[in-house]
Amino acid sequence: MEQVISNIINCLSEIDAGRSARVALRSVIEEYQASKADESQLYYTVLELIKRLNVVDLYIKLSSSAFSTKKIPFQMRAILRLATYYLKFEKKNLDQVYDLLSPHYFTYMNVKLLNILSAISNVTEEDLYVNRLDESSKISLQYFTPTWIVRTFIEQWGESFTKDLLSSLLFSLPTYIRVNTLKTTLEEVKASLDENNIVYEEDKDIVGLLKIGDSNAKPIPQLQEFKNGKIVIQQKASVLVPIVLDPTPGENVLDLCASPGSKTSQIASMMGDEKGLVAIDIDKDRMRILLERMELLGVKNVESIQSDSRNLPEKFMSFFDKILIDPPCSSSGTFNSRPEIKWRLRRRDLRLYTKLQTELLEAAAKMVKNQGIVVYSTCSLFHAENHHVIRSFLASHQNFSLRNTIPFIGFKSSLLENKAQEMYPHLHNSEGFFIAKLQRNE
Ligand SMILES: C[S@@+](CC[C@H](N)C(=O)[O-])C[C@H]1O[C@@H](n2cnc3c(N)ncnc32)[C@H](O)[C@@H]1O
Repeated sequence: MEQVISNIINCLSEIDAGRSARVALRSVIEEYQASKADESQLYYTVLELIKRLNVVDLYIKLSSSAFSTKKIPFQMRAILRLATYYLKFEKKNLDQVYDLLSPHYFTYMNVKLLNILSAISNVTEEDLYVNRLDESSKISLQYFTPTWIVRTFIEQWGESFTKDLLSSLLFSLPTYIRVNTLKTTLEEVKASLDENNIVYEEDKDIVGLLKIGDSNAKPIPQLQEFKNGKIVIQQKASVLVPIVLDPTPGENVLDLCASPGSKTSQIASMMGDEKGLVAIDIDKDRMRILLERMELLGVKNVESIQSDSRNLPEKFMSFFDKILIDPPCSSSGTFNSRPEIKWRLRRRDLRLYTKLQTELLEAAAKMVKNQGIVVYSTCSLFHAENHHVIRSFLASHQNFSLRNTIPFIGFKSSLLENKAQEMYPHLHNSEGFFIAKLQRNE
């Protein structure tokens, strides 16, 4: 148990220092070669705590004026957060928490651990709501989400939809795997899953997509099929994007923001791995990851360019039949699996993302042929990065029009002529996603 607690504290400190939760968890697990039971406890505790970080920190803040959580070292803050999580969310008693944490605690500012624990346990749930007068800041505590995000979501959809959405962000989403038809067949993958006693369901909307059920069988990343690139772990909404793009062999297709390449490899397989696919990414390390991945997934015919896509229109003026833009975004549709992001995101970040998204769309508009198609997708829940980007693009580009994003699995966007689509965790059992399809007609 001591090792698990120590690993949890290390992970929390690393996340606090800016690492992604997934990377921190993976590196601790690799370093300590944790058992399966310890690994699940580590994952569970770290992610559940991070999801509730605003309330955890508020309990600590209200417990004492002797120290400010913002000023204490990462390691100590991690211990206090874990203690609070155990006391308030796992309802452990003071003695249990003291026994678990005292081996890791060294006196900080002469405050004894037992004093801190009892001060935290004396703060009540009602105390949290004192001075929280408006509805958004109450919802922020009830649903563990920054108040500015609650306000923005309520402006977008109203209170009831926002609450349903926010409560679903606390749960895990199912794992989906896509069969990589460049290397195997659906039948072969199903046979291997059966052999490994892995419970799965074929997706009703997308052929070659399997939803993995809960079981104690081998985790997917440990399967040979995963290690040798026959299957790809990919969310349902993400698999839908290349299907909406609908690339075919013989076309010139551009993936404008390609790494790590889940969609690039899917596009390649839809094109029968024929020549014509170009993948661009600005980041050198991420480009290397994309290339390694293409090799693993058996993609041979992709021309990769490491560049800022905004600089390429002159080289590829009116050249492509189809272009996919999957730009950097707030990733707010992935709060379920990456809860740390919601605490890091600032309202001003949205402005930076929308500026980049708009510029990438401008570049794509120059590189697509007349009658060609541009698909724009994000894993964002903010209208600012989705509907607003597309609407302002259409307002200044009369030669582009919206096309239906067939097949419709999500909601049709009423703000975009019912042609774009939106997916939500509470309605579609998927990450939040947005997809719009534009055609150049001159
Ligand atoms: C959301 S990710 C793409 C995910 C990818 N489409 C997939 O399905 O695996 C966005 C990518 O855009 C890249 N990027 C950011 N700015 C860029 C730019 N100006 N030009 C090209 N790529 C850019 C980032 O490095 C990042 O890899």
